[in-house]
Amino acid sequence: MNRLGDVSVLAVIGAGKIGSAIIRSVKKCRRDLTIIATGRREKTLRQAKELGAIPTRDNNRAVREAEVVVLSVKPHHFPVVLKQVDENNWQDKIVLSVMAGVKLSTLKEALKGAIVYRAMPNINALVGLSATAVTTDSNGDKHRELIEELLSCMGTVYWVPEEIIDVWTSLAGSGPAFLAEIVDAMVLGAVAVGMPRDLAYNAILDVLEGTAKLLKTRRIHPVEVRDEVTTPAGTTIRGLITLESEGVKAALMKTIEAASQRATEIGEKIDEAIKKELAKP
Ligand SMILES: NC(=O)c1ccc[n+]([C@@H]2O[C@H](COP(=O)([O-])OP(=O)(O)OC[C@H]3O[C@@H](n4cnc5c(N)ncnc54)[C@H](OP(=O)(O)O)[C@@H]3O)[C@@H](O)[C@H]2O)c1
Repeated sequence: MNRLGDVSVLAVIGAGKIGSAIIRSVKKCRRDLTIIATGRREKTLRQAKELGAIPTRDNNRAVREAEVVVLSVKPHHFPVVLKQVDENNWQDKIVLSVMAGVKLSTLKEALKGAIVYRAMPNINALVGLSATAVTTDSNGDKHRELIEELLSCMGTVYWVPEEIIDVWTSLAGSGPAFLAEIVDAMVLGAVAVGMPRDLAYNAILDVLEGTAKLLKTRRIHPVEVRDEVTTPAGTTIRGLITLESEGVKAALMKTIEAASQRATEIGEKIDEAIKKELAKP
């Protein structure tokens, strides 16, 4: 199976925020694809149905009937899902996990006979602009094209070595949350000086989009933009002195480092939990 067009049934185990973003974008790419989506609450199932998926609480059925399975539950719910699915049903399934921290080795150990991929999209998938990293091992080579096509429905795809995924989780997975905080802080700063909130919000979104486009189009280092904007004795340098004295740059660097470490910690915990689960008679 090489292309998304070869797949008849896709299962999304855990149709929450990212799971439903995946359903939405894959449906846009391939309207006729059957998607079985699972959840626990009525609300989750209703939303999945509205997106054109077949909703069910039955994870075992979803895995059994699908050729490709997306695992999008929270990492600590993964052991529960394992208990709910007959272990023989994983055989030969193409499994794409988007769970933070959960390693390929853990997935392979838990999902006997499955061909596993580990990806980290972000919530910008909702607007087709996720920056998604994906990794696999040599077993996964044969379905790379299919996985890339599936993930491309959400935005840009980067194949990376597995060691990169935890820091990607921080930079690009949590990245939208960090950038949203910065946007909010800048809006509040403008409001403090007397600017109407809505105007400040629209302005900063345009600035964010424009700056991203400028950096991407010109392929320049961010400090070049900073230096172009910074006039001697001007306004920008006054702001930059405040950023530096408040330690904002160091705080952001530490933010990425801390969130990456947390992804690694989660992975280790889940690995332990799965090993305990598998060791049970
Ligand atoms: N949110 C993001 O931006 C993002 C980005 C990249 C990766 N991720 C990863 O994606 C995963 C999900 O995150 P999320 O933010 O989408 O969380 P979420 O909104 O809480 O979604 C998780 C979903 O899993 C469902 N679920 C839990 N246990 C289940 C079970 N046993 N069977 C079937 N469904 C079950 C929940 O259903 P109910 O709601 O019905 O309880 C919920 O809808 C996490 O592992 C996270 O690391 C998230």
